[in-house]
Amino acid sequence: MKILVTGGNGFIATNFNRLLLEKNYYVDSLDNLSYASNKVNHSDFLSDDNFTFIHSDIRNDEIYEYIKKNKYTAVINFAAESHVDRSIKNDSEFLSTNINGTHNLITACKRLISERVLKSDFKFIQISTDEVYGSLNNNDNPFTESSILKPSNPYSATKASADLLCLSYYKTYEFPVIVSRCSNNYGPYQHPEKLIPLSISKVKQDLKVPIYGNGQQIRDWIHVDDHCRGILAVLENGVTGQIYNFGGSSELANIDCVKTLIENLKPGKNPKKYVEFVKDRPGHDIRYAIDSSKAFQQLSWEAQNTFSQGIAKTISWYSHNSKWLEDITNNEEYKKWEKTNY
Ligand code: NAD
Ligand code: TYD
Repeated sequence: MKILVTGGNGFIATNFNRLLLEKNYYVDSLDNLSYASNKVNHSDFLSDDNFTFIHSDIRNDEIYEYIKKNKYTAVINFAAESHVDRSIKNDSEFLSTNINGTHNLITACKRLISERVLKSDFKFIQISTDEVYGSLNNNDNPFTESSILKPSNPYSATKASADLLCLSYYKTYEFPVIVSRCSNNYGPYQHPEKLIPLSISKVKQDLKVPIYGNGQQIRDWIHVDDHCRGILAVLENGVTGQIYNFGGSSELANIDCVKTLIENLKPGKNPKKYVEFVKDRPGHDIRYAIDSSKAFQQLSWEAQNTFSQGIAKTISWYSHNSKWLEDITNNEEYKKWEKTNY
């Protein structure tokens, strides 16, 4: 089976490509190599005959030609602008990639289905997020697949728009789409603009981690390997027209998440030394929590990593790959972002 993975040089798709190759899939991995990507991420795969890198953009017309030529069994769309804080500063790329880019992909696939180039078992998988559901209060039940969409920021609003567009194509054209919605991922290859690798990077340098507001906002953390196994389950056994939630069953307040990292990185040191409370994110969602029972019942999926296991593996990866991290944090684009945001 030949799969097109878009956003292939980003965090989650890099981990997913490795899983696909281990399972002997043929993988074409497409990325526009934006600031969030890293060419190094696919260096291990280039010697694999089953892997091809395509430098392109999901908004380009040539997407239709790639899919036509390669007759993929599935297209899995990871490509997105993915950072909430950047979307708050400037959302134009978010609208363009997350909405128009997804639209370009699904219209190309829809056309190729009608031209009988793509076969009846073709699937389009849209990688979405729990953030489309908006924010929970502390006593609310976790989000299910039928929770209403109430995105709070431009990033989550563009992801919700793409989900709705995909699902409308299922209803109107029987377009074979599946939407997956996962909670906050962590693990190898995550850009240090996001909380966990940012904290690892700061604490390793004996610097303070900037915590927004009072640090009591809750995220449901999932190790990226568990998310990738969920997407593979969707690819192999998911039903078109369906939405599947994936969560890590590891709800943690940001301050407690960061304290755990500090305790692992600097055992015996006072965690207070490594944190500073900074201005809150506007519209900051209070809590995300995911009910994954549908994925458990219908895909036999459940998260295998506890937070402490996953974090230990993650810290070990960043320690063995300090150059990967430092090459990003030392580049001018990253320094400019830090100045703009904090
Ligand atoms: P990421 O920012 O690390 O990777 C996104 C990749 O997409 C980058 O390599 C980037 O270069 C590429 N890209 C951006 N615009 C593109 C375009 N126009 N054409 C081609 N490539 C483009 O993001 P991630 O954290 O790996 O997230 C991947 C997907 O998973 C996103 O759709 C995101 O919404 C979703 N998601 C992420 C999380 C999370 O916690 N990180 C949780 C749930 C869902
Ligand atoms: P982030 O990793 O950006 O993911 P998301 O916004 O998609 O949940 O942020 C995770 C949480 O950490 C979120 O509540 C915001 C908070 N946060 C900080 O407190 N400080 C930071 O510097 C960053 C980047 C995030």
